[in-house]
Amino acid sequence: MEVRDLNFTYPDGTLALEDVSMDVHAGEIVAIIGPNGAGKTTLLLHLNGTLRGNGVVKICGRRVEEYDVKELVKKVGLVFQDPDDQLFMPTLYDDIAFGPINLGLDEQEVRRRVEEVLSEFRLFEYRDKCPHHLSYGERKKAALAAVLAMKPEILALDEPTANLDPKSVRELITAIKKINEEGVTVIISTHNLEILPQIADRIYLMNKTVLAEGESDKILADVSLLERAGLL
Ligand SMILES: Nc1ncnc2c1ncn2[C@@H]1O[C@H](COP(=O)(O)OP(=O)(O)OP(=O)(O)O)[C@@H](O)[C@H]1O
Ligand SMILES: [Mg+2]
Repeated sequence: MEVRDLNFTYPDGTLALEDVSMDVHAGEIVAIIGPNGAGKTTLLLHLNGTLRGNGVVKICGRRVEEYDVKELVKKVGLVFQDPDDQLFMPTLYDDIAFGPINLGLDEQEVRRRVEEVLSEFRLFEYRDKCPHHLSYGERKKAALAAVLAMKPEILALDEPTANLDPKSVRELITAIKKINEEGVTVIISTHNLEILPQIADRIYLMNKTVLAEGESDKILADVSLLERAGLL
């Protein structure tokens, strides 16, 4: 992923991104940290073309706007901050099958992928439930499972640990590392600094614009930087 001088202002005049530049290389796990309102979600929404600002956003060397929707969905899987923005089918099974069906996969492959992710996130027994009757944490996991079932090359996670219990956070970290070892590049937006030493290779600290970039250990050791950014 390559972002160059990206600027974005919402229609009501709120400036959300100001000259943001970032690079995430294939195979990395990179965290984007910043306080509430820093523009993390806004930035991630540019990666799959949901929002379009001024500047350049490239995925695998090509500008986002040059992709057709189906191609881009295979490249970038974005897991929304709020699972209720993502889950909309009558059953959990259908919700997770929705992406793979739209990729044109055959029925057998769709079932194989759905069952694999349901088991991985301990959601198999809920497969026939209405997603809105799952707990919030279960819905967070379901939203991630739905994106993983599409096997994207780049996985973008917006606040993946919010509302998860400690065991689920550990499982999520394990799942992300496994996905990364299988070759998937991972971008995580979060203000949960605790998980970062275990997972992130590099960190971008932002607040509308990029304030700092570096290896996780270096950024996390800079207490005054994190305090000034409102993260400590
Ligand atoms: N749809 C919208 N219309 C107008 N302003 C918006 C909209 N969505 C977000 N904003 C504003 O844009 C700025 C960046 O918001 P964004 O959601 O990207 O921040 P964030 O870093 O993801 O925050 P959080 O940590 O709370 O999730 C904020 O000032 C917010 O108020
Ligand atoms: Mg956000």
